[in-house]
Amino acid sequence: MKWNGLIEEFEEFLPVNENTPKLSLNEGNTPLIKLHNLSEQFGIELYVKTEGTNPTGSFKDRGMVMAVAKAKEEGSNTVICASTGNTSAAAAAYAARAGMRCIVVIPDGKIAMGKLAQAVMYGAEIYAIQGNFDEALKIVRKISEKTPISLVNSVNPYRIEGQKTAAFEVVAQLGGKAPDVLAIPVGNAGNITAYWKGFKEYNEKYGSGLPKMHGFEAEGSAAIVRGEVIENPETIATAIRIGNPASWEYAVNAQKESGGLIDEVTDEEIIEAYKLIATREGVFAEPASCASLAGVIKHLKQGKISKGSTVVAVLTGNGLKDPTTAIDVNEIKPVVLPSDEDVVFEHIKGVVLQ
Ligand code: F0G
Repeated sequence: MKWNGLIEEFEEFLPVNENTPKLSLNEGNTPLIKLHNLSEQFGIELYVKTEGTNPTGSFKDRGMVMAVAKAKEEGSNTVICASTGNTSAAAAAYAARAGMRCIVVIPDGKIAMGKLAQAVMYGAEIYAIQGNFDEALKIVRKISEKTPISLVNSVNPYRIEGQKTAAFEVVAQLGGKAPDVLAIPVGNAGNITAYWKGFKEYNEKYGSGLPKMHGFEAEGSAAIVRGEVIENPETIATAIRIGNPASWEYAVNAQKESGGLIDEVTDEEIIEAYKLIATREGVFAEPASCASLAGVIKHLKQGKISKGSTVVAVLTGNGLKDPTTAIDVNEIKPVVLPSDEDVVFEHIKGVVLQ
């Protein structure tokens, strides 16, 4: 089937015109996968929106194609962003595609290996600061105010416009009706803002209904849940290691308007969900993504999601982004054997087939 990327496919919902470059890496149109095993176990209709199948492996491609296209349209030749890794990968890829320069500012030592590899490969100029994401964002905001460099973090409204298209797809994939609950990880809070905008716009046009938005921060970075900025955020889910979300108020608004909840999940709950979805459903998503599933499990236990509901959990990034965490959290390591059929067979018989 032909799919030409977001700008073409969702043109009527996007702020594009004849001067907007038709930039695309054929992003969007990601699978909505029904989790049969976990649906049965939990007594709900559980789906995941696998945003890790986007061109650079995360939902950021949806926002970035718009932000970079608009920057190019406005005559800019350089984009800049702060990032915990995925934004920088997407910015670097779309800048490369658009023939623009890309500058990324990341927290030193706190971004997953796959994401760093991407920024390097796509040719971004990378600055690793001795500070966290919130500080990096402050720096790039200031620089973009003083220079003609375009800021492509989610405070750029075009990012939200691009990212809202995922909500359109979820509704269409469910046959034209919004789910009862949309569960989503929350870091800088741009994505929950975007989905809520998307659901509302689609509902206005097609009467597709609205979900309750359940957003989940990591416990060590749960600024919105605590109601205060966290100076030193910590979590194994480095993608959402953010203590002062830029779209804080929009996230609270999405939660209130939808009758949903913003809650936190512990690193243990995130890792449990991370392993569960891989081993029970064959879906490998990066740790931050699994905050959504961890949150669904928590809210099911607490009765905050009812049995029989249709629930969509957004899996924001591909598991391959962070191979280090995957290896570190598993006790199962490859068993090293000599290159000998008999030895391998003996081992399988003795160890695996018992
Ligand atoms: N999941 C993943 C995999 C992410 O990379 C991010 C954010 C989020 C969830 C949270 O989304 O910020 O819109 O609430 N990553 C940003 C980055 C901060 O720099 O890549 P949000």
